[in-house]
Amino acid sequence: MKSLLVLISIHHNSSGKVANTLSKVLDAEIKSPQQITPEELLEYDLVGFGSGIYDQKHHKLLLDLADNLPEVNNRKAFIYSTSGVSRKFAGEKSIDDPHSVLREKLLSKGYEVVDEFNCVGFNTNSFLKYIGGMNRGRPNTKDLRHVEEFAQSLKKTVSTQDE
Ligand SMILES: Cc1cc2nc3c(=O)[nH]c(=O)nc-3n(C[C@H](O)[C@H](O)[C@H](O)COP(=O)(O)O)c2cc1C
Repeated sequence: MKSLLVLISIHHNSSGKVANTLSKVLDAEIKSPQQITPEELLEYDLVGFGSGIYDQKHHKLLLDLADNLPEVNNRKAFIYSTSGVSRKFAGEKSIDDPHSVLREKLLSKGYEVVDEFNCVGFNTNSFLKYIGGMNRGRPNTKDLRHVEEFAQSLKKTVSTQDE
């Protein structure tokens, strides 16, 4: 299975840490949206799209790449992110699911979104920098163990579907 991780991690490399762990389990290359063309993505059996969450969605360069993808059939993708507020609170307290915008774009191009991963990451945005930031030290060892478990399960799901 040829896998690729498209990554953009600009704030504290938190999504980069997640991508590195994913890459080890999935034996996947990591490229930024600027290092890959939409057509080159077709060379991979599985593509993970990930970044930090900014204004409750993935980074603009990742969303732009998704907009420029050709329409596909039977192509597998997954979504990952780190955010200041955990995605598990989406739907509560008026927090939108931060994966929705990217997921809709991928689905509209014909991708099957096999699974999704999110954990919190260090956040010093805006006023948070004056109080030492939020989620210092995250993703931590435990978060990265969850990433590993996620990747193992994803690998199993994708290989079973391909049988
Ligand atoms: C400009 C900016 C906007 C952000 N907006 C959100 C947001 O809307 N929701 C959220 O949960 N976190 C938000 N965050 C926190 C980041 O998603 C979090 O720090 C993430 O781990 C950054 O990932 P990175 O280090 O890989 O870039 C924002 C951070 C920045 C710098």
